[in-house]
Amino acid sequence: MTTAHSYDEAYGAWMRDPQAYWAAEAFGITWTKKWDKVFDPTLGPFGQWFAGAELNTCYNALDRHVENGRGEQTALIWDSPITGQLKTFTYSDLLAKTEKLAGALSALGVVRGDRVVIYMPMVPEAAISMLACARLGAIHSVVFGGFAAAELSTRIADAKPKVIISASCGLEPGRVVKYKPLLDAAIAMSSHKPESLLVLQRPQAEATLVAGRDFDYEEAVAAAKPHGWVPVLATDPLYILYTSGTTGKPKGVVRDNGGHAVALWNSMRMIYGLDAGDVWWTASDVGWVVGHSYIVYGPLLRGCTTVMYEGKPVGTPDAGAFWRVISQHKVKVLFTAPTAMRAIRQQDPDGLLSKKYDLSSLETLFLAGERCDPPTGVWANELLGKPVVDHWWQTETGYAITASFRQFGLFPFKPGSGGRPVPGYDLHALDDNGKELPRGETGNLSLRLPLPPGCGPTLWQDDANYVRSYLSDFPGWYRTGDAGVVDEHGDVWVMGRTDDIINVAGHRLSTGSMEEVLASHHDVAECAVIGAKDELKGQTPIGLVVLKAGVTRPQADIEKELVALVREKIGPVAAFKDARVVPRLPKTRSGKILRATIRKIADHEEAIVPPTIEDPAALDEMRAVLDR
Ligand code: COA
Ligand code: AMP
Repeated sequence: MTTAHSYDEAYGAWMRDPQAYWAAEAFGITWTKKWDKVFDPTLGPFGQWFAGAELNTCYNALDRHVENGRGEQTALIWDSPITGQLKTFTYSDLLAKTEKLAGALSALGVVRGDRVVIYMPMVPEAAISMLACARLGAIHSVVFGGFAAAELSTRIADAKPKVIISASCGLEPGRVVKYKPLLDAAIAMSSHKPESLLVLQRPQAEATLVAGRDFDYEEAVAAAKPHGWVPVLATDPLYILYTSGTTGKPKGVVRDNGGHAVALWNSMRMIYGLDAGDVWWTASDVGWVVGHSYIVYGPLLRGCTTVMYEGKPVGTPDAGAFWRVISQHKVKVLFTAPTAMRAIRQQDPDGLLSKKYDLSSLETLFLAGERCDPPTGVWANELLGKPVVDHWWQTETGYAITASFRQFGLFPFKPGSGGRPVPGYDLHALDDNGKELPRGETGNLSLRLPLPPGCGPTLWQDDANYVRSYLSDFPGWYRTGDAGVVDEHGDVWVMGRTDDIINVAGHRLSTGSMEEVLASHHDVAECAVIGAKDELKGQTPIGLVVLKAGVTRPQADIEKELVALVREKIGPVAAFKDARVVPRLPKTRSGKILRATIRKIADHEEAIVPPTIEDPAALDEMRAVLDR
């Protein structure tokens, strides 16, 4: 753990000698074998950290706290307003449950290196499943519950799990989402078939089990013998997390064991200011990277108490839900997405519901998942009277690239800025030729290689795609896919993606994959999906389609079918509710669709019309449709 007293001291120490810096950070983790090399540049697309070392992530997250006398401390609080339940688990409880589930998985033949897909809602068993895989050295891949069967199927086909752990259902306000039929459909579609399924039966909708393949989670756990932890290489994968790429095929970001443990353990103190025994709440979902790092691994590695919340910021039961959880569990730090704050603000603009609760335990509000728009940051800051920190990161990095740091005293609040680079990241804005831009100029935010420990070292069984996707545009650099500027003070301002990824309610989605779905409709000749500004969700997708010649069916029917098709193929999480038929799409003379120009029109901003436009009249037609 860094002993630096200031940000500049810590960042400087890392710059001077990255390997010595990370070797010092690594002492927070219990290793069964020390590394041969702190960093080995010959491994993987850009090198790997702690080569030759061995450890077990589950041991570090659970067993060692019990061994060190923290067994009776609460490890996990499950607060589920949607079911009206509240459960707490001590470190000893969580360990016992994890040991038994690991035993059940082992009885199903799961061994080190096998994959296990976890398709579960926000129940404690989701965290236990992740930890049980880690205990065995198996590689988990959690799939978010809001995806449709086809998306789940793609992930199953790529990860090739031996076992899938699921639940009979998830709960959305006013709707029970039956997981098992989705899972059965996904398996039927997949080229790979898992050997076994473990299904947690929830009373809201029990699932039908297939004899010989499907097993009741509780029964399997009850019958199992507790399983010990298995040492693995620091460079072995801990998990695969699929995230939206620019095509319909998601990218399987790999996270290793050693670098991940070191980076998260360090970040809990340096960024968030938390130590063993502190209560921490990340209001996200285990299906996203934020949930992996900061609902499960980060807080448990550090010995904190983590709150797992099965509910929404509003409607479960009202816009005071977050304040109730903070006061009831004495949460010290809340981490959520700006969209959650916007949802609360929309329903309770004066924050009257917050006055009902004692929020004195709260020290800081951290936001990520999308840029925090300044009005929302200022609103939360004034309402809570506590610092608000926007910090920027992505699935690939696994933790913040830029932030403000509790350990050193937070930087002054600059609404709209994501803070400064975390030690470990050498961040610069590059021009399109890969040349470093002077401070203050906007460009492609890029990280000089190597990436620090904890960042995804590759894509699952696809080094070549990792290189193609992130490393090939600017040799020697990792391209984040975000545009932004590093200003003269070193503060970083992230402007948005440079590719066709959009951010809807803090969820990363690919417009390319939505276009693939729209294009598969029999009446559609061509299409474009853009992310338009949305007051609540930040962005919302709009699909613009040109129909094939001769299609005479009512346009409204086709638009409805397109909305239903995206929901069926990608899932409700796509939040795709707006499809519009257009006479044609504005294009350049070489046939490139002018998506950025269309987005500007949708956002009522001044659209720069490229001189290469085929026919400027197409823009007026587009404006008329978007103003509809
Ligand atoms: N399983 C099944 N469906 C899900 C789901 C899940 N785990 N999560 C979301 N959905 C569904 C929603 O029910 C909704 O369905 P609908 O079209 O039938 O209404 C749809 O997916 C879109 O969800 P969302 O975009 O989240 O919109 P919302 O109106 O339900 O909620 C917010 C809006 C802002 C309250 C909600 O997005 C939120 O709490 N966001 C927090 C951000 C967050 O967790 N980000 C993760 C990264 S940090
Ligand atoms: P994900 O991989 O789902 O975490 O999404 C990562 C992307 O979300 C980033 O590349 C950014 O485009 C965006 N993002 C996340 N956090 C922030 C933030 N604090 N500020 C600006 N953009 C963010």
